[in-house]
Amino acid sequence: MDRATYQISPNSYDEVDLRGPRQAWVKRSIEEADLNNFADAKSSTNSSEAWLRASSYWKPTHITTSAWLGHAPFAFWLVDAVRPRSIVELGTHFGFSYFVFCEAAHRLNLETRAYALDTWQGDDQAGIYGEEVFDSVAAINNSEYSSFSTLLRGLFDDSLPSIADGSVDLLHIDGRHGYEDITHDFEAWLPKMSSRGVVIFHDIAERQDGFGVWKFWEEVEDQYPSFAFEHSHGLGVLGVGKILPPTVEAFFAAAAESPEQVRAAYESLGLEIERLAELHHSAQNAEALAMNVAASDEALRQAQAELREARARFESAEADTVGLRQQLLELQTSTSWTLTRPFRAISARLKP
Ligand SMILES: C[S@@+](CC[C@H](N)C(=O)[O-])C[C@H]1O[C@@H](n2cnc3c(N)ncnc32)[C@H](O)[C@@H]1O
Repeated sequence: MDRATYQISPNSYDEVDLRGPRQAWVKRSIEEADLNNFADAKSSTNSSEAWLRASSYWKPTHITTSAWLGHAPFAFWLVDAVRPRSIVELGTHFGFSYFVFCEAAHRLNLETRAYALDTWQGDDQAGIYGEEVFDSVAAINNSEYSSFSTLLRGLFDDSLPSIADGSVDLLHIDGRHGYEDITHDFEAWLPKMSSRGVVIFHDIAERQDGFGVWKFWEEVEDQYPSFAFEHSHGLGVLGVGKILPPTVEAFFAAAAESPEQVRAAYESLGLEIERLAELHHSAQNAEALAMNVAASDEALRQAQAELREARARFESAEADTVGLRQQLLELQTSTSWTLTRPFRAISARLKP
Protein backbone atom coordinates (compact mmCIF):
# COMPACT_ATOMS: atom_id res chain seq x y z
CA MET A 1 0.00 0.00 0.00
CA ASP A 2 1.24 3.48 -0.87
CA ARG A 3 2.50 5.62 2.02
CA ALA A 4 0.30 8.49 0.93
CA THR A 5 -2.71 6.38 1.92
CA TYR A 6 -2.01 7.17 5.55
CA GLN A 7 -2.15 10.89 5.82
CA ILE A 8 -3.83 13.13 8.32
CA SER A 9 -7.60 13.35 8.16
CA PRO A 10 -9.71 16.41 7.24
CA ASN A 11 -10.25 18.96 10.00
CA SER A 12 -7.66 17.31 12.20
CA TYR A 13 -6.01 20.69 12.76
CA ASP A 14 -8.99 21.62 14.95
CA GLU A 15 -7.53 19.38 17.61
CA VAL A 16 -4.11 20.99 17.63
CA ASP A 17 -3.12 23.59 20.17
CA LEU A 18 -2.23 26.46 17.82
CA ARG A 19 -2.94 29.64 19.68
CA GLY A 20 -2.59 33.22 18.51
CA PRO A 21 -3.47 35.11 15.32
CA ARG A 22 0.00 34.64 13.83
CA GLN A 23 -0.59 30.92 13.70
CA ALA A 24 -3.53 31.12 11.29
CA TRP A 25 -1.17 30.42 8.41
CA VAL A 26 -0.13 27.20 10.14
CA LYS A 27 -3.72 26.00 10.21
CA ARG A 28 -4.18 27.00 6.59
CA SER A 29 -1.19 25.03 5.39
CA ILE A 30 -2.25 21.97 7.40
CA GLU A 31 -5.75 22.26 5.96
CA GLU A 32 -4.35 22.29 2.43
CA ALA A 33 -2.28 19.19 3.15
CA ASP A 34 -5.33 17.47 4.67
CA LEU A 35 -7.51 18.08 1.65
CA ASN A 36 -4.80 16.92 -0.74
CA ASN A 37 -4.41 13.68 1.16
CA PHE A 38 -8.03 12.92 1.96
CA ALA A 39 -8.73 11.45 -1.49
CA ASP A 40 -5.93 8.92 -0.99
CA ALA A 41 -7.05 8.10 2.54
CA LYS A 42 -10.54 7.17 1.33
CA SER A 43 -9.10 4.55 -0.97
CA SER A 44 -7.63 2.48 1.89
CA THR A 45 -8.91 -1.06 2.20
CA ASN A 46 -10.30 -2.76 5.30
CA SER A 47 -7.22 -4.96 5.62
CA SER A 48 -5.68 -2.35 7.92
CA GLU A 49 -8.45 -2.76 10.52
CA ALA A 50 -6.21 -4.66 12.91
CA TRP A 51 -3.63 -1.91 13.12
CA LEU A 52 -5.27 1.34 12.06
CA ARG A 53 -8.16 3.19 13.69
CA ALA A 54 -9.55 6.72 13.79
CA SER A 55 -7.34 7.30 16.84
CA SER A 56 -4.24 6.68 14.67
CA TYR A 57 -5.05 10.01 12.98
CA TRP A 58 -5.38 12.10 16.12
CA LYS A 59 -3.06 15.04 16.53
CA PRO A 60 -1.40 15.68 19.92
CA THR A 61 -2.48 18.80 21.75
CA HIS A 62 0.79 19.33 23.57
CA ILE A 63 3.70 19.54 21.19
CA THR A 64 7.14 19.85 22.78
CA THR A 65 10.69 19.14 21.73
CA SER A 66 11.03 15.36 21.57
CA ALA A 67 12.70 12.56 19.62
CA TRP A 68 9.46 10.63 20.04
CA LEU A 69 7.15 12.83 17.94
CA GLY A 70 6.76 10.26 15.17
CA HIS A 71 5.34 7.63 17.51
CA ALA A 72 2.29 9.62 18.62
CA PRO A 73 -0.06 8.01 16.03
CA PHE A 74 0.80 4.47 17.14
CA ALA A 75 0.62 5.49 20.82
CA PHE A 76 -2.90 6.86 20.29
CA TRP A 77 -3.81 3.60 18.56
CA LEU A 78 -2.21 1.49 21.29
CA VAL A 79 -4.10 3.15 24.14
CA ASP A 80 -7.28 2.70 22.10
CA ALA A 81 -6.46 -0.99 21.55
CA VAL A 82 -5.20 -1.90 25.04
CA ARG A 83 -7.66 0.30 27.00
CA PRO A 84 -5.15 0.21 29.88
CA ARG A 85 -6.29 0.50 33.48
CA SER A 86 -2.82 1.62 34.38
CA ILE A 87 -0.08 3.31 32.33
CA VAL A 88 3.47 3.83 33.62
CA GLU A 89 6.14 5.82 31.81
CA LEU A 90 9.82 5.64 32.75
CA GLY A 91 11.35 8.84 31.35
CA THR A 92 9.05 11.78 30.69
CA HIS A 93 11.26 14.86 30.23
CA PHE A 94 9.07 17.57 28.57
CA GLY A 95 6.12 15.17 28.60
CA PHE A 96 5.51 14.65 24.89
CA SER A 97 4.93 10.88 24.97
CA TYR A 98 3.30 10.97 28.40
CA PHE A 99 0.70 13.55 27.41
CA VAL A 100 -0.07 11.59 24.24
CA PHE A 101 -1.00 8.65 26.51
CA CYS A 102 -2.98 10.91 28.84
CA GLU A 103 -4.76 12.61 25.94
CA ALA A 104 -5.75 9.25 24.49
CA ALA A 105 -7.08 7.99 27.84
CA HIS A 106 -9.00 11.22 28.30
CA ARG A 107 -10.48 11.27 24.79
CA LEU A 108 -11.46 7.62 25.02
CA ASN A 109 -13.06 8.24 28.41
CA LEU A 110 -11.07 5.40 29.96
CA GLU A 111 -10.81 4.71 33.66
CA THR A 112 -7.04 4.83 33.51
CA ARG A 113 -4.48 5.69 36.18
CA ALA A 114 -1.31 7.13 34.67
CA TYR A 115 2.11 7.63 36.29
CA ALA A 116 5.02 9.65 34.90
CA LEU A 117 8.39 8.79 36.45
CA ASP A 118 11.46 10.99 36.11
CA THR A 119 14.00 12.82 38.24
CA TRP A 120 13.28 15.82 35.99
CA GLN A 121 16.94 16.62 36.20
CA GLY A 122 18.00 14.94 32.96
CA ASP A 123 20.93 12.65 32.32
CA ASP A 124 24.08 12.56 30.19
CA GLN A 125 22.09 11.35 27.15
CA ALA A 126 18.99 13.55 27.36
CA GLY A 127 21.07 16.46 28.75
CA ILE A 128 20.90 18.01 32.20
CA TYR A 129 18.10 20.56 32.53
CA GLY A 130 16.56 22.95 35.04
CA GLU A 131 13.42 23.18 37.15
CA GLU A 132 11.48 24.91 34.39
CA VAL A 133 11.05 21.52 32.66
CA PHE A 134 9.31 19.94 35.64
CA ASP A 135 7.29 23.13 36.13
CA SER A 136 5.99 23.01 32.55
CA VAL A 137 5.03 19.32 32.84
CA ALA A 138 3.38 19.88 36.23
CA ALA A 139 1.42 22.85 34.85
CA ILE A 140 -0.13 20.77 32.05
CA ASN A 141 -0.73 17.83 34.36
CA ASN A 142 -2.42 19.99 36.99
CA SER A 143 -4.63 21.82 34.57
CA GLU A 144 -5.71 18.88 32.39
CA TYR A 145 -5.02 15.43 33.76
CA SER A 146 -4.64 15.58 37.55
CA SER A 147 -7.84 13.57 38.04
CA PHE A 148 -6.08 10.42 36.83
CA SER A 149 -2.40 11.23 36.33
CA THR A 150 0.41 11.45 38.90
CA LEU A 151 3.97 12.67 38.50
CA LEU A 152 6.37 10.54 40.55
CA ARG A 153 9.57 12.52 40.86
CA GLY A 154 12.73 10.60 41.71
CA LEU A 155 14.71 7.65 40.38
CA PHE A 156 12.61 4.98 38.66
CA ASP A 157 13.57 2.42 41.31
CA ASP A 158 12.41 4.74 44.11
CA SER A 159 8.85 4.45 42.79
CA LEU A 160 8.76 0.65 42.60
CA PRO A 161 6.99 0.38 46.00
CA SER A 162 4.30 2.85 44.83
CA ILE A 163 3.08 0.64 41.97
CA ALA A 164 1.46 -2.71 42.78
CA ASP A 165 2.83 -5.91 41.23
CA GLY A 166 0.71 -7.19 38.32
CA SER A 167 -1.13 -3.87 37.91
CA VAL A 168 0.37 -2.17 34.85
CA ASP A 169 -1.31 -2.73 31.46
CA LEU A 170 0.95 -0.40 29.47
CA LEU A 171 4.58 0.43 30.29
CA HIS A 172 6.71 2.83 28.25
CA ILE A 173 10.47 2.64 28.89
CA ASP A 174 12.36 5.72 27.70
CA GLY A 175 14.98 6.49 30.36
CA ARG A 176 18.71 6.19 29.84
CA HIS A 177 19.43 4.06 26.79
CA GLY A 178 22.55 2.06 27.68
CA TYR A 179 22.29 -1.74 27.48
CA GLU A 180 22.63 -2.08 31.27
CA ASP A 181 20.08 0.71 31.86
CA ILE A 182 17.37 -0.81 29.68
CA THR A 183 18.02 -4.32 30.95
CA HIS A 184 17.75 -3.11 34.54
CA ASP A 185 14.60 -1.05 33.90
CA PHE A 186 12.86 -3.92 32.10
CA GLU A 187 13.74 -6.50 34.73
CA ALA A 188 12.82 -4.20 37.63
CA TRP A 189 9.44 -3.31 36.17
CA LEU A 190 8.42 -6.61 34.54
CA PRO A 191 6.82 -7.90 37.80
CA LYS A 192 4.57 -4.83 37.73
CA MET A 193 3.02 -5.90 34.42
CA SER A 194 -0.50 -7.32 34.37
CA SER A 195 -1.57 -10.45 32.47
CA ARG A 196 -2.61 -8.20 29.55
CA GLY A 197 0.52 -6.08 29.77
CA VAL A 198 2.29 -4.47 26.83
CA VAL A 199 5.72 -2.81 27.10
CA ILE A 200 7.03 -0.32 24.55
CA PHE A 201 10.71 0.65 24.22
CA HIS A 202 11.99 3.77 22.53
CA ASP A 203 15.30 3.95 20.60
CA ILE A 204 15.55 0.32 19.52
CA ALA A 205 16.96 1.55 16.17
CA GLU A 206 19.52 3.94 17.70
CA ARG A 207 23.07 2.59 17.34
CA GLN A 208 25.17 5.56 18.38
CA ASP A 209 27.74 5.19 21.15
CA GLY A 210 26.26 4.48 24.57
CA PHE A 211 22.93 3.25 23.15
CA GLY A 212 22.18 -0.43 23.68
CA VAL A 213 18.41 -0.74 23.49
CA TRP A 214 18.87 -2.33 20.01
CA LYS A 215 20.94 -5.11 21.56
CA PHE A 216 18.49 -5.64 24.41
CA TRP A 217 15.65 -5.70 21.84
CA GLU A 218 17.37 -8.42 19.82
CA GLU A 219 17.45 -10.52 22.98
CA VAL A 220 13.77 -10.13 23.94
CA GLU A 221 11.89 -9.74 20.66
CA ASP A 222 11.58 -13.49 20.13
CA GLN A 223 10.63 -14.27 23.72
CA TYR A 224 7.23 -12.55 23.43
CA PRO A 225 4.85 -11.47 20.67
CA SER A 226 6.58 -8.37 19.30
CA PHE A 227 6.76 -5.77 16.58
CA ALA A 228 9.46 -3.22 15.76
CA PHE A 229 8.96 0.23 14.24
CA GLU A 230 12.11 1.68 12.74
CA HIS A 231 11.21 5.35 12.29
CA SER A 232 11.87 8.08 14.89
CA HIS A 233 14.77 6.11 16.43
CA GLY A 234 12.65 2.97 16.62
CA LEU A 235 9.88 1.73 18.91
CA GLY A 236 9.66 -1.86 20.08
CA VAL A 237 6.27 -3.28 21.08
CA LEU A 238 6.37 -6.31 23.35
CA GLY A 239 3.33 -8.25 24.54
CA VAL A 240 4.55 -9.53 27.90
CA GLY A 241 1.13 -10.42 29.33
CA LYS A 242 -0.09 -14.03 29.16
CA ILE A 243 -3.63 -13.04 28.09
CA LEU A 244 -3.21 -10.08 25.76
CA PRO A 245 -6.28 -8.10 24.68
CA PRO A 246 -7.69 -9.58 21.41
CA THR A 247 -7.00 -6.23 19.70
CA VAL A 248 -3.31 -6.56 20.56
CA GLU A 249 -3.20 -10.23 19.52
CA ALA A 250 -4.80 -9.24 16.20
CA PHE A 251 -2.25 -6.44 15.81
CA PHE A 252 0.72 -8.77 16.27
CA ALA A 253 -0.80 -11.28 13.81
CA ALA A 254 -1.58 -8.65 11.14
CA ALA A 255 1.74 -6.88 11.64
CA ALA A 256 3.62 -10.17 11.23
CA GLU A 257 1.76 -10.70 7.96
CA SER A 258 2.30 -7.17 6.56
CA PRO A 259 5.18 -5.61 8.52
CA GLU A 260 6.20 -3.20 5.79
CA GLN A 261 2.65 -1.88 5.38
CA VAL A 262 2.31 -1.30 9.11
CA ARG A 263 5.71 0.39 9.30
CA ALA A 264 5.08 2.56 6.24
CA ALA A 265 1.67 3.62 7.53
CA TYR A 266 2.92 4.70 10.93
CA GLU A 267 6.08 6.24 9.57
CA SER A 268 3.97 8.37 7.25
CA LEU A 269 1.56 9.35 10.04
CA GLY A 270 4.56 10.06 12.27
CA LEU A 271 6.06 12.35 9.64
CA GLU A 272 2.86 14.37 9.69
CA ILE A 273 3.30 14.90 13.43
CA GLU A 274 6.94 15.92 12.94
CA ARG A 275 5.86 18.35 10.22
CA LEU A 276 3.16 19.70 12.52
CA ALA A 277 5.75 20.17 15.28
CA GLU A 278 7.99 22.10 12.89
CA LEU A 279 5.11 24.40 11.99
CA HIS A 280 4.25 24.72 15.65
CA HIS A 281 7.82 25.69 16.56
CA SER A 282 8.03 28.10 13.60
CA ALA A 283 4.80 29.71 14.75
CA GLN A 284 6.17 29.98 18.30
CA ASN A 285 9.39 31.54 16.97
CA ALA A 286 7.39 33.97 14.83
CA GLU A 287 5.34 34.89 17.90
CA ALA A 288 8.51 35.47 19.95
CA LEU A 289 10.01 37.50 17.10
CA ALA A 290 6.86 39.59 16.84
CA MET A 291 7.03 40.26 20.59
CA ASN A 292 10.67 41.33 20.23
CA VAL A 293 9.79 43.64 17.36
CA ALA A 294 6.91 45.10 19.40
CA ALA A 295 9.27 45.61 22.38
CA SER A 296 11.86 47.26 20.10
CA ASP A 297 9.15 49.50 18.62
CA GLU A 298 8.14 50.58 22.11
CA ALA A 299 11.78 51.24 23.10
CA LEU A 300 12.23 53.29 19.90
CA ARG A 301 9.07 55.29 20.64
CA GLN A 302 10.34 56.03 24.16
CA ALA A 303 13.78 57.04 22.89
CA GLN A 304 12.19 59.37 20.32
CA ALA A 305 10.02 60.97 23.02
CA GLU A 306 13.10 61.48 25.25
CA LEU A 307 14.98 62.98 22.31
CA ARG A 308 12.11 65.38 21.62
CA GLU A 309 12.10 66.46 25.30
CA ALA A 310 15.89 66.95 25.36
CA ARG A 311 15.71 69.01 22.15
CA ALA A 312 12.96 71.17 23.63
CA ARG A 313 15.04 71.72 26.81
CA PHE A 314 18.08 72.63 24.69
CA GLU A 315 16.09 75.09 22.56
CA SER A 316 14.64 76.75 25.64
CA ALA A 317 18.11 77.00 27.25
CA GLU A 318 19.42 78.48 24.01
CA ALA A 319 16.62 81.05 23.99
CA ASP A 320 17.50 81.95 27.61
CA THR A 321 21.16 82.47 26.64
CA VAL A 322 20.21 84.77 23.76
CA GLY A 323 18.00 86.78 26.13
CA LEU A 324 20.75 87.12 28.74
CA ARG A 325 23.29 88.13 26.13
CA GLN A 326 20.90 90.79 24.87
CA GLN A 327 20.35 92.07 28.44
CA LEU A 328 24.13 92.26 29.01
CA LEU A 329 24.61 94.17 25.79
CA GLU A 330 21.87 96.60 26.76
CA LEU A 331 23.47 97.07 30.18
CA GLN A 332 26.93 97.66 28.73
CA THR A 333 25.67 100.33 26.34
CA SER A 334 23.50 102.06 28.96
CA THR A 335 24.39 105.58 30.32
CA SER A 336 24.88 104.42 33.91
CA TRP A 337 27.37 101.76 32.75
CA THR A 338 29.29 104.38 30.84
CA LEU A 339 29.30 106.85 33.80
CA THR A 340 30.50 104.24 36.30
CA ARG A 341 33.39 103.00 34.09
CA PRO A 342 36.14 105.09 35.93
CA PHE A 343 35.05 103.64 39.29
CA ARG A 344 35.27 100.10 37.93
CA ALA A 345 38.78 100.85 36.62
CA ILE A 346 39.95 102.19 40.05
CA SER A 347 38.38 99.28 41.85
CA ALA A 348 40.17 96.83 39.48
CA ARG A 349 43.54 98.52 40.13
CA LEU A 350 43.08 98.43 43.95
CA LYS A 351 42.42 94.71 43.93
CA PRO A 352 45.30 92.76 45.51
C1 LIG B 1 14.81 10.44 26.60
S1 LIG B 1 14.17 11.35 27.92
C2 LIG B 1 12.45 11.00 27.85
C3 LIG B 1 11.77 11.52 26.61
C4 LIG B 1 10.27 11.53 26.63
N1 LIG B 1 9.70 10.22 26.81
C5 LIG B 1 9.70 12.18 25.38
O1 LIG B 1 8.59 11.91 25.02
O2 LIG B 1 10.38 13.02 24.78
C6 LIG B 1 14.79 10.46 29.29
C7 LIG B 1 14.37 11.00 30.65
O3 LIG B 1 14.60 9.95 31.60
C8 LIG B 1 15.06 10.50 32.82
N2 LIG B 1 15.82 9.43 33.50
C9 LIG B 1 16.82 8.67 32.99
N3 LIG B 1 17.18 7.72 33.86
C10 LIG B 1 16.40 7.88 34.97
C11 LIG B 1 16.27 7.17 36.20
N4 LIG B 1 17.00 6.09 36.47
N5 LIG B 1 15.34 7.60 37.07
C12 LIG B 1 14.58 8.68 36.80
N6 LIG B 1 14.64 9.38 35.64
C13 LIG B 1 15.54 8.98 34.72
C14 LIG B 1 15.87 11.72 32.42
O4 LIG B 1 15.82 12.68 33.46
C15 LIG B 1 15.15 12.20 31.15
O5 LIG B 1 14.26 13.26 31.44
